[in-house]
Amino acid sequence: MADTTAAPRVESIGADFFDDPHAHYRRWRAAGPVHRVRFPDDVVRWVIIGYAEARAALADPRLAKDVGQVEAILHEKRRETRSDPNVSALLSHMLGTDPPAHTRLRKLVNKAFTAKQVAGLRPRIEQITEDLLDATADRDEFDLMEEFADPLPVAVICELLGVPFADRADFQAWTRALVTVVGEDEGRPAAGAAMVGYLTDLVRTKQADPADDLLSELVLADDDGDRLTDKELVSMAFLLLVAGHETTVNLIGNGMNALLRDRAQWQALCADPAAVPLAIEEFLRFDGPVDMATVRYTAEPVTLGGTEIPAGELVYVSVAAANRDPARFADPDTLATDGHTTGHLAFGHGIHFCVGAPLARLEATIAVTALQRRYPDLRLAPAALTPRWQTSTLIRGLLALPVLTR
Ligand code: HEM
Repeated sequence: MADTTAAPRVESIGADFFDDPHAHYRRWRAAGPVHRVRFPDDVVRWVIIGYAEARAALADPRLAKDVGQVEAILHEKRRETRSDPNVSALLSHMLGTDPPAHTRLRKLVNKAFTAKQVAGLRPRIEQITEDLLDATADRDEFDLMEEFADPLPVAVICELLGVPFADRADFQAWTRALVTVVGEDEGRPAAGAAMVGYLTDLVRTKQADPADDLLSELVLADDDGDRLTDKELVSMAFLLLVAGHETTVNLIGNGMNALLRDRAQWQALCADPAAVPLAIEEFLRFDGPVDMATVRYTAEPVTLGGTEIPAGELVYVSVAAANRDPARFADPDTLATDGHTTGHLAFGHGIHFCVGAPLARLEATIAVTALQRRYPDLRLAPAALTPRWQTSTLIRGLLALPVLTR
């Protein structure tokens, strides 16, 4: 399709991209805010990297999200005939729908994530945080990802949804297989099937015996006779579980990685714990957990930043690149936890703005505050000086973050 239009030259994402995506974005930015990019699966997608264009794109209904259309376009580009039915079923959630279907699904979960509802979770999140840090108390060194940033949000989302925490190794492995792009597809069908089977059983258990958790609430939710189907429940549970796994984990991990590289900022924050919530906003801007998990397609031709994108094209908004646009943020490649960060796009913008934002902000604030209190001398272990990153274009996160406690 559009590969032959007189559009910007095609950039590409190879294995070296993930160590420093911003080096690539800086280079691309010199040629403009809208690019065509060849992804590791050899498919060319459009990528928006300018802040103003990203913000406009996220709120533009002509850039639609219907997952059936997205898959159809992807299959045409890959010359494949059909999608994996389990993977498709998992992706038919509100982040893969447009109004009015989106409005209906969003209404059903919105009330569970209001700031007030989420504030009620504070004591439990603090307890989980303290328990995890107790387990590291007599250690000189530990992996902040494996032992803290990773289990904390996972434990919280498991409790909230009513998913057994003991099963986390399984669904974490399936989720990773589903969101990783390089090394493509091998594990996806098997992971999709396992995940659908697991969540279907769980939905049935809640239907038979509802408990005091969000999944049971969703099973019982009835808006004037409008109820969620089993398929909708499975994909909604999947979305919330993935969001709880791959996002807040990396907000804490990426943020601490950046902060511990600048002793003065770490110490300033230790001296002023009340400043942590605003520092979290800078973590989100500087190195947030989402990069291009913002898949859309052009339902009609759309002109952005002076470039026309034809109809029927896949468009990804890089919120990571937008958050480093020098036209919007002064000195964008420097972390500045001085409380002045506003307007970042880490949680998206428009009708799909992140439902979980209040929960993610609260968890990260509790996590960083607890680390400061317990480990004021915390620093990166030598192995952390060369960070290893996940190879996903959707998510940005570390594989490990070894730290020294004293
Ligand atoms: C949507 C980021 C945590 C649930 C989104 C979007 C972004 C995002 C960028 C919009 C994507 C788009 O427009 O295509 C983040 C970040 C998080 C985080 C950076 C952590 C720091 C969470 C958590 C949950 C959650 C903890 C739930 C437990 C959702 C849901 C949507 C969403 C359900 C879809 C909303 C809709 O389609 O209306 N998130 N998220 N997120 N997020 Fe998050």
